[in-house]
Amino acid sequence: MRLESLYIENFRCIELCDIELSPGVNCIVGDNASGKTSFLEAIYILGRGESFRQSSLGQTIQHDNNALTIRARLTDSQGSRHRIGCHASRNSHRLKLDDQNETRRFDLISMLPLQHIDPNVHRLLEQGPKYRRHFLDWGVFHVEHDFFPAWRRYRRALKQRNRALRANCPKHQVIAWDAELVQQGEVIDACRRRYLDQIKQRLPNTARQLAGDDSLLFAYQPGWRGEDGFGFALANGLEQDLRAGFTQQGPHRADVRISVAATRARDWVSRGQQKLLTAALFLTQADILKSTRGVQPVLLLDDMAAELGENYRSALAAEVERLGVQCFLTFLSRESIPGVLKDTRMFYVEQGHIAAP
Ligand SMILES: Nc1ncnc2c1ncn2[C@@H]1O[C@H](COP(=O)(O)OP(=O)(O)OP(=O)(O)O)[C@@H](O)[C@H]1O
Ligand SMILES: [Mg+2]
Repeated sequence: MRLESLYIENFRCIELCDIELSPGVNCIVGDNASGKTSFLEAIYILGRGESFRQSSLGQTIQHDNNALTIRARLTDSQGSRHRIGCHASRNSHRLKLDDQNETRRFDLISMLPLQHIDPNVHRLLEQGPKYRRHFLDWGVFHVEHDFFPAWRRYRRALKQRNRALRANCPKHQVIAWDAELVQQGEVIDACRRRYLDQIKQRLPNTARQLAGDDSLLFAYQPGWRGEDGFGFALANGLEQDLRAGFTQQGPHRADVRISVAATRARDWVSRGQQKLLTAALFLTQADILKSTRGVQPVLLLDDMAAELGENYRSALAAEVERLGVQCFLTFLSRESIPGVLKDTRMFYVEQGHIAAP
């Protein structure tokens, strides 16, 4: 997947941007508040249909304007060309893939697999299971094609079961959803396990290159207790679910604990190392997608120099280069760009104006 051109109008501080992109590394350089993260955010919206900043699309419209437009031309992994776009007003938005009448977020996500590595990437280790589930499922979604249909059916059944629990419905109305939950839940679990095996195989190499450390361990927790399978755990937990008013076990509660040797990674690894190890996880995902599906994701790396010394920065840049996917990296100054990226396409951002030299 390669974005060829990008058009942004009235998005945050960017009034107008109409540029051709490099199929490889694109460096975006500018002062604080110049619009670098906004530039990445615009690309992210094209691939996800939503912002990464917890704003609604309407809130990202430039102040004093009523609507924004983001468009791109891209080439997919088979060499076919496509157009994707997003148009948003204060109250509504429209996504568009080629000439499709109704484009859903699912269409954009499938067309433009994006990975966003920001300065808080280490939260994958520090924060709750939700981030790690998202991380895992991004890869599972793109690599395991059984995953998404099963996930959809699972969510639907879970919603109904929880509704019955909340409404204190009789037991038989609650357990009426169990067969569907278990069937779809087992598909989800199998997809996640297969995918995680691939990560385990490939990660050590990337982690060694980046952080000089390959001792990351993963403990996958499927989201239910015991060794007797989801069906058994669900039936066993029914009384507790009835008391709690929601379904407490299932793939929606899964987690992947990540640790270095015998200790949880967040406990003793330095912040810089945490960042590199987490970046290694994302790059490994990109590598898996590329080598198993022939699909090249687009990488967005925001402010990778933050908290990373020159050696770590260079190691990360070298890994990104080696991966050979299209990427967009932001930097505060030209001096902070690692040497290995110095000959790549540069864009300079100043007060929302983006210029190529
Ligand atoms: N809806 C909006 N309309 C106009 N400007 C906005 C809007 N939302 C945010 N901004 C402004 O856009 C500017 C650029 O923000 P952005 O986060 O892209 O900067 P940045 O270059 O990434 O800075 P930093 O280096 O500090 O991370 C900020 O000054 C912000 O106040
Ligand atoms: Mg920023």
